[in-house]
Amino acid sequence: MEFVIFALIAYILGSIPSALIVGKIGFNIDIREHGSGNLGGTNTFRVLGVKAGLIVTIADILKGTLGAALPMLFDASVNPLVIGLFAVVGHTYPIFAKFKGGKAVATSGGVILAISPILFTAMILTFLIVLKISKYVSLSSMVTGIVAVIISAFMQNVGLIIVTSVLTLFVIYRHLANIKRIMNKTEPKIKWM
Ligand code: G3P
Repeated sequence: MEFVIFALIAYILGSIPSALIVGKIGFNIDIREHGSGNLGGTNTFRVLGVKAGLIVTIADILKGTLGAALPMLFDASVNPLVIGLFAVVGHTYPIFAKFKGGKAVATSGGVILAISPILFTAMILTFLIVLKISKYVSLSSMVTGIVAVIISAFMQNVGLIIVTSVLTLFVIYRHLANIKRIMNKTEPKIKWM
């Protein structure tokens, strides 16, 4: 019962569509009708600028962090990583936005932040390095996931290996359209780095 309650709260938390909220309240824009249409930090940067993009990215990370931290905050014997996964599912298939949400990147990062700030820091560095070289946010997101699995293996943390693997496969699945665009050379590159 405890598991179901935490999973449900994490899912509802993850479902808060920060990109939609920032777009509507701050700019009177439905971000789903602009750019890639994705309810995520990248599309917010693209459509609404740096400040809004940063707010949405941080909010999306925090959804994952708080989701995974819930069992720890209430001293419950439920696996935080597993509960964190429900925040990621909420972010991706949000009940508050017709089940069409983001691509799982920032919220997945947030889950890792709750469990291993060191791995999270390594992931941020990986993301920035790949972004600097490739200029593709989508590619940087996927490579960061793969590197997170490899680092988890070096850390010999079975829980992290399983969760980073599941999240990375999910992130890649959510980026299938981006992968096609990268191969067709039609994926937009960032211009500000
Ligand atoms: O975090 C999502 C990012 O990797 C790609 O987003 O809007 O370019 O499809 P987008």
